[in-house]
Amino acid sequence: MYDAIAERYDELWGTRAHDAAEFAFLRAHAGTGPVLEVGVGTGRVAIPLALSGLAVVGVDPSRGMLDVLARKLAQQPGADVEPRLGDMTLAGVTGAFMLVYCVYHTLVYAGSRAEQATLFRRAAELLRPGGTLVVEAYHPGLARRVRWDRGVRVRVLTDAACDIEVYEHDADLQTVDVTAIRVQGGDAERTRWVERYLLPAQLDGLATDAGLVLHARTGGYADEPFTTASRRCVSVYRHRQPEGTRGRG
Ligand SMILES: C[S@@+](CC[C@H](N)C(=O)[O-])C[C@H]1O[C@@H](n2cnc3c(N)ncnc32)[C@H](O)[C@@H]1O
Repeated sequence: MYDAIAERYDELWGTRAHDAAEFAFLRAHAGTGPVLEVGVGTGRVAIPLALSGLAVVGVDPSRGMLDVLARKLAQQPGADVEPRLGDMTLAGVTGAFMLVYCVYHTLVYAGSRAEQATLFRRAAELLRPGGTLVVEAYHPGLARRVRWDRGVRVRVLTDAACDIEVYEHDADLQTVDVTAIRVQGGDAERTRWVERYLLPAQLDGLATDAGLVLHARTGGYADEPFTTASRRCVSVYRHRQPEGTRGRG
């Protein structure tokens, strides 16, 4: 579904209020790199990280998003970003990364629960000793969309255009079925996708199964405490064994 919005992504979602804090947070965990972004999109985070001197590998299944990223990279010759077509199973990705990160709720776009579990397992394999996995997920308990069992959000774009999103929440399956309709100049274009959210304890369970442990959890990138009122959940995981002891018999 990101192919459909790729050309508009930066205009609609390309800036977040906490961009600077998010960059500083990820930069602090990246050391000297390299870093791996899961769901790199149009490079909102990857490009600034690369311009700060890091080598970045960015995986995304949307050719449209990667095309926009490639155009932006052509304007930024100093940014070392390697775009790769792929999903969060990270098939074919090799390397030893100081930081693997999956932000902006990208985890919910996995095609299956197995894919989400694979992300944690592959991240653990691809992290250097002492490396960090950062996962930002929306906090489902009180997050705005999940409060509505059937919710509608309308975003007016211009006098002649608006986006309508209809959410259907299934609390048992922990899914939100989203139908997005763009109405423009008498035409309507519909896109549909399923978001699979995870509770913090479930994230931690996947991490544990992968050999990672929770190092920190906040409600945002500026060290906000994580509470039941948090709209987002930022989790930082590290290998269970401390740096320097992995691989010893
Ligand atoms: C909300 S955007 C975030 C993009 C970028 N990380 C950012 O912060 O601006 C979600 C991204 O996840 C990608 N995505 C969707 N399904 C995915 C999957 N199964 N595995 C990895 N990435 C996926 C989309 O193509 C899109 O680029």
